[in-house]
Amino acid sequence: MKNILEAPFMVEAVRTLTNLYRLGWDERNGGNLSYLLYDEDIEGYLDTTKVIRTIPMSFDASEIAGKVFLVTGTGKYFKNVQYDPENNLGILRIAADGKNCELLWGYRDGGKFTSELPAHLMSHMVRLAIDPSNRVVMHTHPTNTIAMSMIVGPSERDFTRALWKMQTESIVVFPEGVGVLPWMVCGTNDIGIATAEKLKETRICVWTTHGIYGVGRDLDEAFGLIETVEKAAQLYMLTVGCDRKNEIKDNELKDLAAVFGLNYKTEYLD
Ligand code: 13P
Ligand code: ZN
Repeated sequence: MKNILEAPFMVEAVRTLTNLYRLGWDERNGGNLSYLLYDEDIEGYLDTTKVIRTIPMSFDASEIAGKVFLVTGTGKYFKNVQYDPENNLGILRIAADGKNCELLWGYRDGGKFTSELPAHLMSHMVRLAIDPSNRVVMHTHPTNTIAMSMIVGPSERDFTRALWKMQTESIVVFPEGVGVLPWMVCGTNDIGIATAEKLKETRICVWTTHGIYGVGRDLDEAFGLIETVEKAAQLYMLTVGCDRKNEIKDNELKDLAAVFGLNYKTEYLD
């Protein structure tokens, strides 16, 4: 077997988690990540016939039984992932009954998957139905997005418009807008169901006064989406209370959408 710490998916995930920590978005154990692995990613790196232990889940994921995910551990710090991936991350396979998962690697100290597993796996299920190439669900706590959620939300129209008007790039990167959930208790099946429902319409879901979910076909795509939202939120927060003279106007956003051929949420523009 080759060293799994050198597998391209692992190297990329560790770099991404380290970057998220460095951005200041993942204080303490904040944030979590799940990454759908294909057979070719793990072939030669992992003996998939060896199950370390079986861990029960609180919901039914039979729709994705047999799929294998790299998942951050609960209570683990993104800060520490690069120094000890095997303790802070796990690779798990959804068991045939959909109610358990089989640990194939990681969580070395006896730990388990993130408390947000319901939101992650429910989101994977809805996104895979929309886009079979989706592989990543990323949850993080970007500072300005959270700050903005105290001022704008929970209207998705208001939140999306505010983001679109801050910078040209916003409507290009997320033309479908953003989903926004009101504050809810995290780590529950309920917030998982609500998040997955939002992610049927958009690839971004803001959790008011908590953080954000982003999805994508790879780590770059999910990160890039969140990064673009956070940049717009930062611009919003830097100018909140100011007499903004140059927000992008609705007709300008329409011109941009026409030239770029964007399939944007038309109800969000006046
Ligand atoms: P976990 O440590 O269980 O991943 O929780 C962190 C978090 O961000 C909760 O929303
Ligand atoms: Zn969180």
